[in-house]
Amino acid sequence: MRIVILGAGGRLGAALMRQYRKEFDAVGFNHDQINLANSDKIRGRLSSAQFDLLINCAAMTNVDLCESKKAEAFAINADAPKVLAEICSEKQAKLIHFSTDYVFDGEKREPYTEEEAAKPISVYGESKRVGEKNILALQDRHLVVRVSWVFGPDRPSFVDGMIKRAREEDRVEAIADKWSTPTYTHDIATMLPQFFDVAVPDGILHFANSGQCTWLEYAQQALECCRTLGISLKAETVGASKLADMENWVARRPVYSVLSTGKYAKLTGAIPRSWRDAVSDYIKRSYLKK
Ligand SMILES: NC(=O)c1ccc[n+]([C@@H]2O[C@H](COP(=O)([O-])OP(=O)(O)OC[C@H]3O[C@@H](n4cnc5c(N)ncnc54)[C@H](OP(=O)(O)O)[C@@H]3O)[C@@H](O)[C@H]2O)c1
Repeated sequence: MRIVILGAGGRLGAALMRQYRKEFDAVGFNHDQINLANSDKIRGRLSSAQFDLLINCAAMTNVDLCESKKAEAFAINADAPKVLAEICSEKQAKLIHFSTDYVFDGEKREPYTEEEAAKPISVYGESKRVGEKNILALQDRHLVVRVSWVFGPDRPSFVDGMIKRAREEDRVEAIADKWSTPTYTHDIATMLPQFFDVAVPDGILHFANSGQCTWLEYAQQALECCRTLGISLKAETVGASKLADMENWVARRPVYSVLSTGKYAKLTGAIPRSWRDAVSDYIKRSYLKK
């Protein structure tokens, strides 16, 4: 199977490239090679390429920047996926496109299923939702995969920021009133191939590690793992801050955006490992050697 991965320089795209180049005929493109803001360039680069599967990990992911650069956010997150889906349909190839828990408004207090109405509250969320709809409107075997709080070794994320601060400062804080599920890029890379050849009903699937937490619990778990592994830290515990304290944030974020993995479990008969195990595994793999 020949696979093309877009966003191969990003946190998720790089992780998929590392795994799939061992198992498949996989080629990656980064931002410099294909700019998704330019539909003509996308067509120019991809129309003549041969592939069976296109995986799009590229996106404008800076949630605050999307607020001030709405046209760019929609070009990359909404218009480009449509072009990608059309190219794939023309070639009888499959598109797997990554989307986000931020398509939900966060008003619920139990996990969001794929059937639930998406009501984004930010430009980022809106642009990603339109991207999803553009793909699903083609009614082909393309797949939209929503993920949440993605972490992994290829680009620092929240967990790395907390560990860095805890190494340098006596006191660290994290938000205690915002919930979702940390999800390890390694686990996404492992779970995804089951769907390379299989059509998913309605074309949307939620992928996340199991369980849910606040950012405070996520940070606390990371610090505890470090301590267990003998990684020295200055900060002992994580203090609580509130979402409302984040005065520099421009975009609204959903308070609760846990993704239900029930559909994944029903389709595969498997339950993703817990976020705590995934975070521990990540810290063991990435920090013990540093
Ligand atoms: N990170 C999360 O917590 C999270 C949560 C939910 C959903 N997601 C979704 O998961 C997917 C992967 O995210 P990620 O965590 O891997 O994000 P990331 O590390 O920011 O990677 C995004 C990639 O897209 C590239 N990109 C940005 N603008 C582009 C453009 N105009 N043309 C081509 N490439 C462009 C970036 O390149 P440069 O860096 O060189 O600009 C980067 O390689 C995205 O669809 C995102 O919406 C992520």
